[in-house]
Amino acid sequence: MPNTMSASLFLSLRDDTAVANGDEGQLSVRADGVGVTLKRLTPGVGEALRRLGNGGAYEEHLAEQVLQADGDAALSRFYYYLDQLGRRGLLLRSAMAERGPLATLVATSTSFRYPARGTAPDQFYVLSRFAYLRAEGGHVLLESPLAHAQVRLHDGRAAALVHALARPGPISEVAERVPGLCTDEVALVLDLLLNADMIGEADETGTAATDRPAALESWEFHDLLFHARSREGRHANPVGGTFRFAGRLAPPPPLKELHAGETVALDRPDLERLRRDDLPFAHVQETRRSIRDYAERPITLGQLGEFLYRVARVRECAEMEMATPHGPIRLGMASRPYPGGGALYELELYVAVKACQGLAAGLYHYEPVHHGLERLSGQTAEVERLLKDAAGASGIPGDRLQVLVIVAARFQRVMWKYAAMAYGLVLKNAGVLYQTMYLAATAMKLAPCGLGGGDADLFARAAGTDYYAETSVGEFLLGSLP
Ligand SMILES: Cc1cc2nc3c(=O)[nH]c(=O)nc-3n(C[C@H](O)[C@H](O)[C@H](O)COP(=O)(O)O)c2cc1C
Repeated sequence: MPNTMSASLFLSLRDDTAVANGDEGQLSVRADGVGVTLKRLTPGVGEALRRLGNGGAYEEHLAEQVLQADGDAALSRFYYYLDQLGRRGLLLRSAMAERGPLATLVATSTSFRYPARGTAPDQFYVLSRFAYLRAEGGHVLLESPLAHAQVRLHDGRAAALVHALARPGPISEVAERVPGLCTDEVALVLDLLLNADMIGEADETGTAATDRPAALESWEFHDLLFHARSREGRHANPVGGTFRFAGRLAPPPPLKELHAGETVALDRPDLERLRRDDLPFAHVQETRRSIRDYAERPITLGQLGEFLYRVARVRECAEMEMATPHGPIRLGMASRPYPGGGALYELELYVAVKACQGLAAGLYHYEPVHHGLERLSGQTAEVERLLKDAAGASGIPGDRLQVLVIVAARFQRVMWKYAAMAYGLVLKNAGVLYQTMYLAATAMKLAPCGLGGGDADLFARAAGTDYYAETSVGEFLLGSLP
């Protein structure tokens, strides 16, 4: 169905699309990585579709052409083909002003169906709280985790229109808020925004219809965007182990480079003894608890060393050849006791020590090959703050804390290989590590407690890391059992 406004949208194909005639009136439409063969075309429909690839035309002109050449029945077929092109991201729908396009809608997922909803003059519209603007490749894009399409804004007036829609209003009033656009032009852009789920009908509270489903209420903007973009379904971006930086950047190393500073050597526990004497696994699993109360005598350096060894030491270093789209690449690997996505082991452990028998207070990095603690600092104001935050998150009095284990991630190690899901994978790995720490601490009769939040900026300052290269993604308290 065409939209209901008198002025119609301008339809065209993506710039890099090639349209070729096939046998028996077929039309092949292909662009980088996508394509479709449209079959059994009537002459008028075939001609209208060829015009799309030939610079494009207004929807109402194309529909008129199909009607005149092939009759009524062909029109629904024509819209079926537009849908086929649209959901593959090949069809562009543009709102035009006198001097060119104002905004263009393009599908970003194969689930996209153009709903062809029309705007009404007396209806109030407002921007969805999930819509956001960003720049890419010289375009300003309006996107939303609710949407299966994005809208490119070609003109500052279209961006001003998005700004004007932050407050609800009918088309005529919204048009008054945007200098340089007439009501018809505003109505056309609003049509695009409505059909892309960027705006919705406003209710008496000023909420867009898009944002009203009860299950959406609890979603914060950033959570929904992360969910929609790190899993498949709501975008057409590459997902998974694409080795996206292979051939451009050397693979990030399996281990963090060491500082030249002081290192505290840790004892290696006797694994044979642990295999023989450890509590049975079912007992460990059934008695595991988060414990926020400690004995007077703090955890010892020996216990901390055994805990780190059981949880996070490097068991084996190796080099593996990986097949990538840029040919085989050798990747250093360093496996650890817990499972990790892609066996990349990007997580680093740090310990902020308040009280530990045999170890001075301060911040340390766990060196997992030689099994030692690199001393990064004493009890600086930043280390105090990290401990104070952990006390606040757990309800344990600050002066009772013993050891805070901080889980940091070397992000590039994962991002070099994985597309879309890299950060999600890091958080999953952090969860796996939490459980490994819980079980090891329980088996060792220590008091464990995972934490849900921490200050990643503060950690980067305290540890001297670059926030974008390595910072904290999790925190875990450890102490002696009362
Ligand atoms: C990812 C994660 C985050 C947590 N965050 C906190 C926290 O911030 N503060 C806290 O006191 N406990 C925290 N906990 C501990 C949970 O409250 C605890 O696991 C839950 O209440 C179940 O109790 P149990 O561990 O004793 O079985 C966290 C646990 C996990 C796994």
